[in-house]
Amino acid sequence: MDCTIAIIAGDGVGPEVVAPAQKILETVGRSFHHHFKFRSFQAGGAAYDTYGETLPAGTVEAVRECDALLLGAVGGPAWDSLPGDKRPEHALLALRKELGVFANLRPAVLLPQLRGACPLKAFAVSGGFDILMVRELTSGIYFGRRGRSADLSAAFDTMSYNTDEIERILRVAYTAAEGRRKILTVVDKANVLETSRLWREVTERVKTEYRDVVTNFLYVDNAAMQLIRSPSQFDVIVTNNMFGDILSDESSVLTGSIGMLPSASLGKKSGRSFGIYEPVHGSAPDIAGQNKANPLGTILSAAMLLRHSLALEEEARAVEKAVEAVLDSGCRTLDLADSSTPQNKIMGSKEMGDAVLSAITSPEKPR
Ligand code: IPM
Ligand code: MG
Repeated sequence: MDCTIAIIAGDGVGPEVVAPAQKILETVGRSFHHHFKFRSFQAGGAAYDTYGETLPAGTVEAVRECDALLLGAVGGPAWDSLPGDKRPEHALLALRKELGVFANLRPAVLLPQLRGACPLKAFAVSGGFDILMVRELTSGIYFGRRGRSADLSAAFDTMSYNTDEIERILRVAYTAAEGRRKILTVVDKANVLETSRLWREVTERVKTEYRDVVTNFLYVDNAAMQLIRSPSQFDVIVTNNMFGDILSDESSVLTGSIGMLPSASLGKKSGRSFGIYEPVHGSAPDIAGQNKANPLGTILSAAMLLRHSLALEEEARAVEKAVEAVLDSGCRTLDLADSSTPQNKIMGSKEMGDAVLSAITSPEKPR
């Protein structure tokens, strides 16, 4: 297959986690006889420093011509005092919105190898867990009207959703649930928010088309509690942009480290299915440039890219299996290490990337 993958390494640890993931994509391309071309772009704080804007003109159009975008992270203290619409995060939100990737899939799976790194007591995770968080990504309070009073002493943000936006994200979540354990939890705050009451109304209608999926409703405060009390009760969770942002950080740390979590942001499926693939962890400025960041979230995002945008399931599995094999062999980045991890198994971003690279099995190299 011939395809072009856009790369935005971004800020903070972005470049350190994207480099190994790109290397892995290159290797997978070669081993499985594909032609993967890469085109690098700048966005976020790094772009601001070079061009004076966080999303240089023409970037969105150029990225749109590619088959997928692999993105590291944006943001950091250097740009925190910029006005809202100049901040690096604004570039990320604009990319998501302009590229129409409304469905953000954030799987949180407890791998048996990392059970010791999960902060919950053993009894709470004895059966493991495998959660797919489906977060609405291009609407809600992130994109609603916001502003300040004339004297700047008051501010407002608006959460708004229309029926179409709710319906399309529900359909993504129901379809995912159909291929899994068939339990969908709609997380909202319907006891307070009108948008949540509309989500429930739309769900009541849409659910009749997915009769083999059990639908549950859960208030977000309760969901935050249930996630740490008993994560295994969840299969697919669907929720709005802001609740999904918060709950996905919570579910990520249950997997051992937020550094493990990949994500895929997808749009409407019509022939070619463009997606943005990024780790959930963010730019982590406190450890940037120190070769300490866990690249596995980005590497697993690259696997999602192979699966969702390029329909290369075998190649995606090859990457995921390589990650599991490396964890099996005891290798850990700092965030995953505990007192039982031998010193010689604790490694940096680059070394972890290389370990995964050498564990990739191609059709010619069976294990
Ligand atoms: C995420 C991040 C972003 C978000 C930030 C960087 C704008 O936290 O992808 O979860 O809130 O969506
Ligand atoms: Mg977040």
